[in-house]
Amino acid sequence: MKRTKISVVGSGFVGATAAQRLLEADLGDLVLYDVIEGKPQGIALDLAESGPVQGFSVSAKGTNDPRDTHGSDLVLVTAGVPRKPGMSRSDLLEVNGKIVRDVATHLREGSRDAIVVVVTNPLDVMTYLLRALTGFPAERVVGMAGVLDSARFRTFLAWEAGVSPRDVDAMVLGGHGDAMVPLLRYATVNGIQVERLIPKDRLDKLVQRTRDGGAEIVNLLKTGSAYYAPSAASVEMIRSILRDEKRLLPCCAHLAGQYGIRDLYVGVPVVLGRAGVERVIELDLAAEEKAALQKSASDVQKDLDLLREKGLLPR
Ligand code: 2OP
Repeated sequence: MKRTKISVVGSGFVGATAAQRLLEADLGDLVLYDVIEGKPQGIALDLAESGPVQGFSVSAKGTNDPRDTHGSDLVLVTAGVPRKPGMSRSDLLEVNGKIVRDVATHLREGSRDAIVVVVTNPLDVMTYLLRALTGFPAERVVGMAGVLDSARFRTFLAWEAGVSPRDVDAMVLGGHGDAMVPLLRYATVNGIQVERLIPKDRLDKLVQRTRDGGAEIVNLLKTGSAYYAPSAASVEMIRSILRDEKRLLPCCAHLAGQYGIRDLYVGVPVVLGRAGVERVIELDLAAEEKAALQKSASDVQKDLDLLREKGLLPR
């Protein structure tokens, strides 16, 4: 039987912590790829040596040769430059666009059947770009943002309500940017609407803190961006795909008219299984929620237009 092969592209903090989580979940043999000589090899060796203690039986290999990623079942794309304090995710368009272009070439050459999970920022635009450059079917290219943004929202709601984060469910839609749309109406503590537990003015603050969640960490770290929650969110998506769990998760998916949005990648609830994005769930949104989603989508569209102007996106 062929063993599952997972490649992680980029051995920065998100790539390295995702690699660790993937190995510990025993999801498949792992290849960690980076252009920096020695770094992916060092991390992969160190991780492999944790195997006897952690008790996983999958393998880990680090490499600077993109051909080692060929034949992957799943590729997690984390390569790219993170934000510095004061930068928006959009400031990374050009530099990360070029990196994603190279990754797309390797994928086209050797991993034509892979499902691709993109983490590189600005997330929605990079996911669109990778799909455009590979020509892969839209259901096999998906971006990670909603699970992370929702996890932040759930954490803040749990703290405020004084309950376990495990009991809090919430959904954040839209682009992974300042205009993301945390949905209060769909946020619950074991089925109880948060609006019954937390006063409106506090909820509004938590919504804003969620929108600023990435920047809050960038400002604290000063030399990088978040990676523990982003890698946890990525692995939750990968597990649902490889184990065909059919989890319903907010992900950055290609829309072809759903929510009135056409040919754009933005965050919406989807069902993730072995075929990738198996279904987009269309929620019944209130007028103001719909307007907020449109606004967020138009921000993504602006970045896409900018990328096109810079000649990085095929017309
Ligand atoms: C974040 O939100 C890095 O965009 C990522 O933390």
